[in-house]
Amino acid sequence: MHPPATPSVPTRGHPDVLVIGGGIIGLVTAWRAAGRGLTAAVVDPAPGGGAARVAAGMLAAVTELHYGEQTLLGLNLASARRYPDFTAELEEASGQRIGYRRCGTLAVALDADDRAHLRELHALQTRSGLDSQWLSGRECRRLEPMLAPGVRGGLRVDGDHQVDPRLLASALLIACERAGVVFHQEWAERLTVDGGRATGVELAGGEGLPAGQVVLAGGSWSGRLTGVPEAVLPPVRPVKGQVLRLRLPRMPAGSPAFLSRTVRAVVRGNPLYLVPRENGELVLGATSEEQGWDTTVTAGGVYELLRDAHELVPGITELPLVETCAGLRPTSPDNAPLLGPSALPGLHLATGHFRNGVLLTPVTGDAMAEALATGRLPEEARPFSPARFTAQGAERARVPEEQPV
Ligand code: GLY
Repeated sequence: MHPPATPSVPTRGHPDVLVIGGGIIGLVTAWRAAGRGLTAAVVDPAPGGGAARVAAGMLAAVTELHYGEQTLLGLNLASARRYPDFTAELEEASGQRIGYRRCGTLAVALDADDRAHLRELHALQTRSGLDSQWLSGRECRRLEPMLAPGVRGGLRVDGDHQVDPRLLASALLIACERAGVVFHQEWAERLTVDGGRATGVELAGGEGLPAGQVVLAGGSWSGRLTGVPEAVLPPVRPVKGQVLRLRLPRMPAGSPAFLSRTVRAVVRGNPLYLVPRENGELVLGATSEEQGWDTTVTAGGVYELLRDAHELVPGITELPLVETCAGLRPTSPDNAPLLGPSALPGLHLATGHFRNGVLLTPVTGDAMAEALATGRLPEEARPFSPARFTAQGAERARVPEEQPV
């Protein structure tokens, strides 16, 4: 942890750090950079928006483990461990709660295929030294009585928690403002480059903003900024996710909650999750669609989510549906983020967080602030250097990926 930020002196003129993108990744980068005594500014027409407006906020390092992602697991776990201190620090800095809830997660199976899938996941978790307990269907229903009678078994993961991404974004916004970060509420039109170095950005309105260093944290849009040399553009693409928000019934004091923890499943191959919040919201997600830049909420997407959720928790259809939305996960070729200095001097990347943007927010802020203040990424973030996607960099930076059995 770093000492509390001494507010950096706001300056429109020439900040040490200019962050393109005011989603949670851009905001945490600016906030942590200001905490290191750097002057910082953020360019975004609507700071506090982005994919976090849609995200469910699961901190699911263990239940979202996938084959071949052992290196990413290390970063995910490092960030999950940081969440309690990060929450305390951010809530203190912003004066606002962020909905961090240590509720744990239950991943369940509805049929023999799902059960086989969960058994595989359990074996991988065990080999990776992670805490996860196999439960029978009956044990699952004892924990969560609203589950369908047909649930065949599940994994209890008490270490996978949740946070409210919308509260996280607004708290980061306030913390940035209080730390002296300057906001330019416009689109960044192009990166300016001079003498082989990034020197700032030109805004859509034509104004030039020079800066000591530039951070490209534009989520899925990061790969499209004009002025960034082709070889330096991050290889990120959007992966659409549709999400529903329902309203939980108010339960009489002393009676069990509708759901007490995050419940997830893979239904007919589609990952599904239900995240109950203390404020009475139930977030239900998410589709995963390669649809380019489309963020339409479709009847089919809503139908599939509700159909699968109804199989898992039949009582779901009684709840008021209060919101439907769709967002874009910024996705890199290996599903892991790109963090730190790019091949263009003066330009850093903080993008490509895919399914883990909310989870990786604390560790991203720390890693980016270290890189901006010292020029070096901390050890834990080095495997995520953008250099892995350049021919020479990949050779230099290669880390052996553990081969799960
Ligand atoms: N991490 C959950 C999702 O991306 O849908």
